[in-house]
Amino acid sequence: MKISPLVEESLYMKKYFRIFLKKEKVGWFRESDTDIYRKYGLVREISDYIYSLPTRKRCYALYRKELLERLKKIPSYPYLVKLAEIASKLNMKLYIVGGAVRDLILKNFIYKEPDLLVEGDLVSFMKEVEKEGFSIKEQTPFLTMKLQMGYHTFDITLCRKELYEKPGSLPKVLPAFLIEDLYRRDFTINAMAFGLSCEEAGLLYDPFYGLEDLERGFIRVIKPYSFIEDPTRIIRGIRLKVRFSFDFDEETRKLITLAINKGALFSIGWVRFWKEIEEVFKEEKAVDIIFLMDEFGIWQSVDISLGDLERKVLNKIARECLSSEEQKEFLLYTIFGLQDINKSKEWGLRFQLSKDIRESLSLIPSWKSLKYLSFTEKYKLMKKVRKGVVKFWSLCFDENVVPLWEKFIEAKPIFSEEEIKEIASNMGSTYDRIKMEILKLQIEEGLRSQKDILERLRKESA
Ligand code: CTP
Repeated sequence: MKISPLVEESLYMKKYFRIFLKKEKVGWFRESDTDIYRKYGLVREISDYIYSLPTRKRCYALYRKELLERLKKIPSYPYLVKLAEIASKLNMKLYIVGGAVRDLILKNFIYKEPDLLVEGDLVSFMKEVEKEGFSIKEQTPFLTMKLQMGYHTFDITLCRKELYEKPGSLPKVLPAFLIEDLYRRDFTINAMAFGLSCEEAGLLYDPFYGLEDLERGFIRVIKPYSFIEDPTRIIRGIRLKVRFSFDFDEETRKLITLAINKGALFSIGWVRFWKEIEEVFKEEKAVDIIFLMDEFGIWQSVDISLGDLERKVLNKIARECLSSEEQKEFLLYTIFGLQDINKSKEWGLRFQLSKDIRESLSLIPSWKSLKYLSFTEKYKLMKKVRKGVVKFWSLCFDENVVPLWEKFIEAKPIFSEEEIKEIASNMGSTYDRIKMEILKLQIEEGLRSQKDILERLRKESA
């Protein structure tokens, strides 16, 4: 019997839902998620499960003091206190949420302003924060706003739920309660909220056992269709796994493989795919992430193969102490520039990369032919290419070609234009040819005086 792809997917989903339900690790489903449940024929199963559950709103006062102490070290802490006061005054709730809570618990340095969540009336909150001197920089239909105070910018979101109309699409957004907002997130370790306002201050909300997963070092999805509704989470998950040296729990690993095999990454569009890749390139352990993505077949699924050369260069990049900018540049060249030249062009256009970057990508393969080019071809190439590309060639070559490139870049004929014209006419040659001959003698043979160069030119034309 032939099974249609939707039925097949649905059977897989049912299987994984059952595993999830049995383990009772994920304890919070909403009846209102019916679109997705209906799609997979899971409505009955889910509602039975919901009614069998005790209230699972887990909340810890345990870490209150310690986490508040850590929070005080964030430079924007005084403004967070101010925002919390405003929320309390309006009888609203304000939380820190997502990656910042995770990093606070892990005692990691929080390098960006924490994401904030409000529960209540966003419009009243906006009016009040403006009165208190914050300026509203941006407001979107996704119920989010950007606040500015001095050097600090805060992303504030109204607690919301999301409805994905089709896999990989951007979601429809509706106001909701905190717990619903946490439920829409990717992994348990990213689905915790830390209260800031009034009696919530210092309380950790952790409905999906994120704290336990953080302590045991696990990346676990909250819901089994997480990767189908947002396949970018596949790459996010791999990124976090490597960043923290965590493991995937067994089901999450299977769900990743399932989503990749079903071609989920194709549904997100190339620009979103590229955004995730850029995030990978920024990571300290980017090379390990790239290799793990390869193990999961992600590169193959988008028609990129990591051959011996790519692997060799990636390992070199991991060993070198590169600046973050240089690492990003070299990784881009390794993965998208060492491929077939037509493919590199295609990637550049698909990802909507800038003209400069596309041009650099198109010059990467020239490293192979460098040795076989005539002087004039080499000169034209070297004048066009950026230092970053030449440094990258050096990694491919196992030889530093930067000094050679510098010679080409700095070289100017030691004769004036008029003098070259005169030499050319005396020798019955063209201006361009003589100019190149002169440069060749300067660059390749290191001749420095006009006398030596003239002598050589005469000898060669005799
Ligand atoms: N999120 C999600 N699904 C995504 C992207 C983000 O559920 N595809 C949620 C997660 O809860 C995440 C939060 O949005 O924690 C904020 O996302 P982002 O700022 O991109 O990442 P962080 O988790 O803060 O991680 P990082 O340290 O890499 O910035």
